[in-house]
Amino acid sequence: MKILLTGGAGFIGSHVAEAFLGQGHAVTIVDDLSSGRPENAPAGAELAVMDIASPQAAELMASGGFDVLCHHAAQISVPFSVEDPQADARVNILGLLNLLEAGRRGGLRRVIFISSGGAVYGEIPDAPADEQRPALPLSPYAVSKLCGETYLAYYAANFGLEALTLRYANVYGPRQTPHGEAGVVAIFMNAIAAGRPPAIYRHPETPRGMERDYVYVADCAQANVLALSAPPGVYNIATGLATTTLDLWLAVRRAAQSDLGHSFGPARAGDLRRSVLDAAKAASILGWRPERDLAAGLAETWAWRRALEAGA
Ligand SMILES: NC(=O)c1ccc[n+]([C@@H]2O[C@H](COP(=O)([O-])OP(=O)(O)OC[C@H]3O[C@@H](n4cnc5c(N)ncnc54)[C@H](O)[C@@H]3O)[C@@H](O)[C@H]2O)c1
Repeated sequence: MKILLTGGAGFIGSHVAEAFLGQGHAVTIVDDLSSGRPENAPAGAELAVMDIASPQAAELMASGGFDVLCHHAAQISVPFSVEDPQADARVNILGLLNLLEAGRRGGLRRVIFISSGGAVYGEIPDAPADEQRPALPLSPYAVSKLCGETYLAYYAANFGLEALTLRYANVYGPRQTPHGEAGVVAIFMNAIAAGRPPAIYRHPETPRGMERDYVYVADCAQANVLALSAPPGVYNIATGLATTTLDLWLAVRRAAQSDLGHSFGPARAGDLRRSVLDAAKAASILGWRPERDLAAGLAETWAWRRALEAGA
């Protein structure tokens, strides 16, 4: 297949590019390198450095003869979206619309849209959220992701576009920077490398810190491969397991064989207490299951980091 992959020079998108190339697909990456790095884009992919909201990106989408748009490019910072909701919407809503309109003209068949389960459901105090759970966006970032999903449904209903939404939980793994939603793994590994004890943020009622669902990046990449041929729909991509920030820190320490200490600090405004997703639908319809548990994923991530430091 001929795939236009946006955000392919970023953390998750670069793993998806590798997975698509590994299956023999032709991959063109569109990325403005605002947070991505050209060296993340695998050698076998073409890299077009451009803004998804630009006329150039629309032209490429309309004339490139692509079968699939896999859309990872985004403004990913929740705090930034609160500071500047219009800038968030320009990329996450207008950028997507730019590509969908051009894709409609260019005969695009399928869109894989990357949304965020950690954002769209809001607080999940009880059982893991499945896709039927009503959305409760609590930030402009969450609103823009949900808006993207809704536009996708419109294009599917009116123009026959095959629309798949993957709602990732908190993704971690090699090439992650400390800035994303699950950047805490990269923050903890940086802390160990620098020998500086990290702070664990917590609410009074969450003494071990917030609970999150950590899913390994290679598993997310595999979900995208399956999404190339799966029935349209919305799918959570997650483990269904809750890990507190303190337990994550202890697991990172084990992976790095470190005995570095830590401190505690107050949760920041807007930090969700608990977010855990049910991925049973992805298991039954996509045939997807996470293959790495947290210990295995953290060990691979730490090994990648060590190899990078050693200049391998
Ligand atoms: N990291 C997570 O835990 C997580 C969880 C849920 C959803 N997501 C989603 O996954 C996707 C990838 O996130 P990531 O963590 O790999 O972040 P990332 O910042 O590493 O990747 C985003 C990429 O998009 C590019 N980009 C940003 N704005 C652009 C624009 N206007 N035009 C072209 N390219 C642009 C960046 O340069 C970067 O390479 C995003 O859509 C994000 O919302 C991430």
